[in-house]
Amino acid sequence: MSDDVAPCTALAYLDPSYWDQRFGKEEHYEWFKDLSHFRHLLSPLLSPSISVLEVGCGNSRLGEDLLREGVAGGITCIDLSPVAVHKMRDRLAEQGTSGVDVVVADMLDMPFESESFDLVIEKGTMDVLFVDVADPWNPNPTTVENIMRMLEGIHKVLKPDGIFVSITFGQPHFRRRFFEAPGFTWSVEWSTFGDGFHYFFYTLQKGKRSPEPSGHQNKLPAPPSINMLHEELESEDYIFCINVEEL
Ligand SMILES: C[S@@+](CC[C@H](N)C(=O)[O-])C[C@H]1O[C@@H](n2cnc3c(N)ncnc32)[C@H](O)[C@@H]1O
Repeated sequence: MSDDVAPCTALAYLDPSYWDQRFGKEEHYEWFKDLSHFRHLLSPLLSPSISVLEVGCGNSRLGEDLLREGVAGGITCIDLSPVAVHKMRDRLAEQGTSGVDVVVADMLDMPFESESFDLVIEKGTMDVLFVDVADPWNPNPTTVENIMRMLEGIHKVLKPDGIFVSITFGQPHFRRRFFEAPGFTWSVEWSTFGDGFHYFFYTLQKGKRSPEPSGHQNKLPAPPSINMLHEELESEDYIFCINVEEL
């Protein structure tokens, strides 16, 4: 990342105008590595006929990479930033690449029918919702509401046996309580990749778990009572870890 797109504070990641300005200047940046670093984890989940939704594509090349991997059932990339979407459309048109739809859309209000996609993938996008969390063990109610709205939207647009892949530095003790919230029927597994700092690759398969009986549906499991420090992060990734009280 070049200095002229770095935010003053991590809270800028929650501001849509920050992303528009950034994407106006920056042509390409891959958060949490590119496909070559996690292909061994993603490839077993791909087949030519599947339809894929990428949430928060930014100026990443993951959508085109999936096309090159042989996904032919339709790839849809969404982002809240019109600048990112228009630049990606222009780039695909210049390359003569078809088979990737790029749409301005809010992941908190997904404009897709239920059970539309075989695979939903996000890389570094859910992390944006966590940047105003002063205490990662107790995110504030608005943050929790937005995280749950994002996950509920993804769960809804996944086909009955669809898979959600989340690529993040968010460790299992911070993510599992959201992924495993009552009401979701997906199983939750994870792997790590990367040298030095390990990124997390979560695989959530819908239809593998029974939802909790009604009455438990809106209750999140309590946060765990252990503590761990983040290891060293590469490049801009570290900004996601900054405690907002220290800014
Ligand atoms: C950290 S970047 C990750 C970009 C890309 N996935 C990558 O791996 O390089 C987060 C992206 O999420 C997008 N974003 C933030 N809030 C969003 C929302 N509510 N709906 C859709 N996209 C959003 C931003 O515009 C930005 O492109």
